[in-house]
Amino acid sequence: MSNVVILGAQWGDEGKGKIVDLFSDRFDMVVRYQGGHNAGHTVKIDDKTFVLKLIPSGILRPGKRAVIGNGLVVDPAALISEIETLEAAGIPVSRQLSISNRAHVIFPHHRMMEKMSEDRPGRTSIGTTSRGIGPCYEDKFGRRGIRMADLLDKETFAAQYDCLVEEKEIIARALDIHEDMDFAGIRSQYEAYAERLRPMVCDTARLINDAMTQGKWVMFEGAQATMLDIDHGTYPFVTSSSAAAGGLCTGAGVAPTRIDGVIGVSKAYITRVGGGPFPTEIHDEAGARIREIGREFGAVTGRPRRCGWFDVPLLRYTAMINGFDSMVITKLDVLDHLDQIPVCVEYRRCGATLDAMPATTREIATIEPVYQMLPGWTTPTAGVSRYEDLPEKARQYLEFLESRTGVEVGCISTGPERNQTILRRGSRLEKLIA
Ligand code: IMP
Repeated sequence: MSNVVILGAQWGDEGKGKIVDLFSDRFDMVVRYQGGHNAGHTVKIDDKTFVLKLIPSGILRPGKRAVIGNGLVVDPAALISEIETLEAAGIPVSRQLSISNRAHVIFPHHRMMEKMSEDRPGRTSIGTTSRGIGPCYEDKFGRRGIRMADLLDKETFAAQYDCLVEEKEIIARALDIHEDMDFAGIRSQYEAYAERLRPMVCDTARLINDAMTQGKWVMFEGAQATMLDIDHGTYPFVTSSSAAAGGLCTGAGVAPTRIDGVIGVSKAYITRVGGGPFPTEIHDEAGARIREIGREFGAVTGRPRRCGWFDVPLLRYTAMINGFDSMVITKLDVLDHLDQIPVCVEYRRCGATLDAMPATTREIATIEPVYQMLPGWTTPTAGVSRYEDLPEKARQYLEFLESRTGVEVGCISTGPERNQTILRRGSRLEKLIA
């Protein structure tokens, strides 16, 4: 067994929720290291479907510790509502969840600032989840943010909150914004949230490192995904945190030397929610069909996801950024209906092959994807749980992705249930989680 990080290889919604839930059985602790309730991890267990936004999927496994690391931004109202929903379903969240005392707190004015910024004439709208994530990280990096530890300390909170409110009011006046906010009411509401969350708040970096020292195994769960990473993604169409594997070191307080493996998750095709470039996006009926079969609608916002073909150059780029040891391919069954499946094997621009991921949106938008057509298998694969039982052409498809990306396909998901999964025998992934 090892300490591993599992994260999305493209723009999120790769199906990590199911995979983290499945593998978390083998780990003692599951840790989120960035983002907030902009994430939406759907996990289906028997006849119940859980959508986890802030709480790591490991919470669904009895006795496992789930950790919200310091790199997250926490909306206490959203967190409490998620806790209550899970507790109503019989999951003892308060006993299993730890929240970092250094995680930053989202306030209603963060959502207001975001809305204002997204709607401003002349600004390119990012198509955010409108959860106040970006503005909260802005306050964090502007060194005026309020953290969980501050929220729990009544006097510190009062002083910091007044200061933050004063600053926001100056900004609102300068920008001629007339949005009424009951700042005093919000303050007392947050004081009540603090009492509800207090028993779960602690120094999680210490908790995680101590657990590792005691020989416990920790899984780090990425949210959003590599191409939404603030540094390595399709900037500015990204989220405001370090979603790539490197983010776990700062976002959880764990040294890189303590991590044994990095697992990338990708669908057998690709999706994206929100704005931004997407070289292999499918604009015709085939995309709509995949959206319908794959039920590609955002778990948090319900927005339709844009669908595209598997993109080898993109995967090679994210494999480089994260150092993928193995890849999990999800939703293979969604491609069952296709006679032929295009796979992008190369990027070209102005007739020349590109050997690096361009940095600007404008450059990415002008990429000409070169496709290779692979034969479809046109046989149901839903629920197949042994590699040998997949149709030969489905195996060829997976092995093609493996050889072109240079990353092994260690696991394949053929449906939403835990048992609709293939773990390849002898794979590096099997060794990492065995
Ligand atoms: P934000 O994270 O709400 O600031 O949104 C920034 C971008 O990231 C938008 O394009 C969102 O659609 C996208 N995004 C944020 N969270 C997720 C997620 O969990 N899955 C997929 N896209 C996401």
